Amino acid sequence: MIGRLNHVGVATPSIDDSLALYRDILGGTPHGEPFDLPAQGVRVAFVDLPNSQIELIEPLGADSPLNGFLAKNPKGGQHHVCFEVEDIIAARDALTAKGATVLGTGEPRIGAHGTPVLFLHPKDMGGVLVELMQAPDAEGRHP
Ligand code: CO
Repeated sequence: MIGRLNHVGVATPSIDDSLALYRDILGGTPHGEPFDLPAQGVRVAFVDLPNSQIELIEPLGADSPLNGFLAKNPKGGQHHVCFEVEDIIAARDALTAKGATVLGTGEPRIGAHGTPVLFLHPKDMGGVLVELMQAPDAEGRHP
C-alpha cells in the first residue's frame, strides 16, 4: 500500500530560522525559495536530503491550520509524515474501508509539490498525521 517516504513535515514559527538551522547547522540543501500556499494557509520551504525531503511549514494567515499546533508547540515540531501511493483514490478507498479517517472533504487537494494529496486523521494512525501523495508515474509525470 504505502510507498516511499516522500517527506517529513516540520511546523515552524519561522521558515527563515528553520532554513538557517537545516542549512547552516545540519548541512542540508534548501530546494528553491520558500513560497506561499494560500489555499492551505501555509508558507512552505523544502530541504533536500539524499533520500527524502524535510517540508518546513509556517502559518500563513489567521485561519492557518498550523496556528493550533504552534499554540501547543511554540518552537515548532514534527507535524506529519508523507508517504507516496500509486493511486490516491484507490489508497483512500482501501484505507477508509479499514477504518482510516480522511480529513476535510475527503477529496484530494493539490499539495505543496503540485500533486494530489490527502491527510489521514492521527486518531487512527497511532497519533501521527499521515499525508498521502500520489507518486509520479514511471516517466516522472504527475497526474
Ligand atoms: Co506535507
